[in-house]
Amino acid sequence: MVETLQDNVRWLIGAVARGLGARHGEGVADVLDRLAQQDLDTARFAAPEPRALPVLAHLPHCLGEAMLLDADLAAAIASVEESLQWRQSACYSDALLGEGFTANYGWAEIIGPNGFFPGDDFLLGLLMLGPERHYRDHFHPAPELYWPLTTASHWSVDSGPFVEKQQGATIWHAPMAMHATITRDMPLLAVWSWTRDTATPARLRVT
Ligand SMILES: [Fe+2]
Repeated sequence: MVETLQDNVRWLIGAVARGLGARHGEGVADVLDRLAQQDLDTARFAAPEPRALPVLAHLPHCLGEAMLLDADLAAAIASVEESLQWRQSACYSDALLGEGFTANYGWAEIIGPNGFFPGDDFLLGLLMLGPERHYRDHFHPAPELYWPLTTASHWSVDSGPFVEKQQGATIWHAPMAMHATITRDMPLLAVWSWTRDTATPARLRVT
């Protein structure tokens, strides 16, 4: 049987749900509840225009690491990688975030207006950061979960100290909480979700 893109997207969504279902961190149940409420009927499926970004140069390395955490999920991501629409927040620039940031940053929606199913005020996607990046303090009304599939990323909430999170940890950001991410020598690939209040984009803290 030839697998269609929709089959692979459903495999990916299922792999995320199974992986998160085995975790118990703050916000995980919220994401799974909201995911279960989404209309994933075949009639709602529409593939976005695929778009690549320079940060994808790090995807093979990240998928290699992710294989060691959750081989099924890593394979499911690989099965749709040619079909994802990688995007960047419109107001982000190297001037604001450091030389080379925009060549080392991107996100793609799986569920959301730029994903494969539109979602109901709910976003599920992937985020990538290249090595040696500082995605500095930003905030948004949406509650947010990150699930790093790669090793050793560093996270700050409410402008507190950066804490190293291991591969497979989950990180929850309450609405409007200031948060930031640092990578060192390894790139980051993370599953990410906004569970509600998705209409307002992230804003960088004014410095
Ligand atoms: Fe965020």
